[in-house]
Amino acid sequence: MTELHAEMHERRILGTELLWAFGVGVLIAATLGMIVFTALTRGINPPSNVERIDPKTLHLSGEFAEQNLGTTVGADGSVTARIIATQFMFVPRCVAVPLGRRITLRFAAPDVIHGLLITGTNVNTMVVPGFVSQVHTEFARTGDLLMPCHEYCGLGHSEMWANIQVLPESEFKPGPDGRVSCAQR
Ligand code: CUA
Repeated sequence: MTELHAEMHERRILGTELLWAFGVGVLIAATLGMIVFTALTRGINPPSNVERIDPKTLHLSGEFAEQNLGTTVGADGSVTARIIATQFMFVPRCVAVPLGRRITLRFAAPDVIHGLLITGTNVNTMVVPGFVSQVHTEFARTGDLLMPCHEYCGLGHSEMWANIQVLPESEFKPGPDGRVSCAQR
């Protein structure tokens, strides 16, 4: 190749590379823009809670002991639901929550990695043994919502789901111990 040829060749390569760099740059900007847009307008964020819990003992005492599972209204009116994800069920199987109030959902797993979403809401998280998964949300409509496990966790994975019962304020009545169970219908 002559010197001139080599230079033209090099320019062509540079041109192609710049074109690709521009294309990739546009894609990255669009993706980041979408993430920021959904975070600001739809409340869609990755769960960022880092809180450790011993998967071997979480059922014995503390907030994930059986008697503490489900929905509790605190003295300050805050609503927290605690749920265990385990092969192959959620405990409890039905969780009562109030309409139009910011609530906290806390999940823990004693065995393997599970995941969950609540249909029609922004709730979507993994539940990893050793950590508490915590999300906040607010329900906009009353009725029953399906909460399936969405991470393959074994042979019974497809049978693993729970019901989220969104109650109007008039039906969301905590007992003397501050606990609320699903209404029997
Ligand atoms: Cu639990 Cu899939």
